[in-house]
Amino acid sequence: MEVIILKDYEQMSQKVAARFKKMILHKPEAVLGLATGGTPRRFYEMLCDFHVKENLDFAKVKVFNLDEYLGLSAEHPASYAYYMQENLFSQVNLHKDQCFIPNGMTNDVAKECQDYEALIKEHGPVDLQVLGIGRDGHIGFNEPVSSLSSRTRIKTLTEQTRQDNAKYFSSSEQIPLHVITMGIATILQAQEIILMASGQEKAQAIAKAVEGPLTAMVPASVLQTHQRAKVIIDESAASQLTNKDYYQWVYENKPNWQKKEFL
Ligand code: PGA
Repeated sequence: MEVIILKDYEQMSQKVAARFKKMILHKPEAVLGLATGGTPRRFYEMLCDFHVKENLDFAKVKVFNLDEYLGLSAEHPASYAYYMQENLFSQVNLHKDQCFIPNGMTNDVAKECQDYEALIKEHGPVDLQVLGIGRDGHIGFNEPVSSLSSRTRIKTLTEQTRQDNAKYFSSSEQIPLHVITMGIATILQAQEIILMASGQEKAQAIAKAVEGPLTAMVPASVLQTHQRAKVIIDESAASQLTNKDYYQWVYENKPNWQKKEFL
């Protein structure tokens, strides 16, 4: 696991956007794994800017989103289908039929989950996956004690996660209790994973994920087992890391050829 600590949200977003740009330039038919939430918003703005100002071409790119609320249609402003449409899909030349996200309105959840896994198998593996992290250490919507071998399935949100997302709903009764999420084993199939986090409220989850034991109680800690996982965070999200100076020293002393991943 590589830990990259940057000054603030802007720099962190730039770093992640630069890695995605490099991936698309290097592999125009890349399969991207995408996340929603507050954290990646600026990152998406930057990707859109690359498209507009530098003609970054998404024509052959495929995307798989991590999760969706059950019971919300793509027209609901709090759905992740809506979020992706607003923040990325409507602004770049991604083909609609190459953008995959679980259907929150499905009548057959088990089939929807199986079909989603089959699609990932057919088009994947995901080349580059971006993740956020919940205050409880969740990735996707894999809440604490999720099986580390889990595949795409229904999950019940914790009350803390529901309250963290309450700002996107007009009343707390409207926040769905259930979601479909890629499983932890599904996420781990990606060739490369970047976890982003910003702000003090994520500091404890980051410290547990990076320096704590591997445990289903902190789903993000599973990234310790991945061959190419990067944790790209700002100073405040890094504030509870015991070995912060060491990660910074390693990053500053990377060989030049390794730094090119982002250039
Ligand atoms: P946030 O959500 O980016 O809105 O903080 C992250 C997550 O819950 O995974």
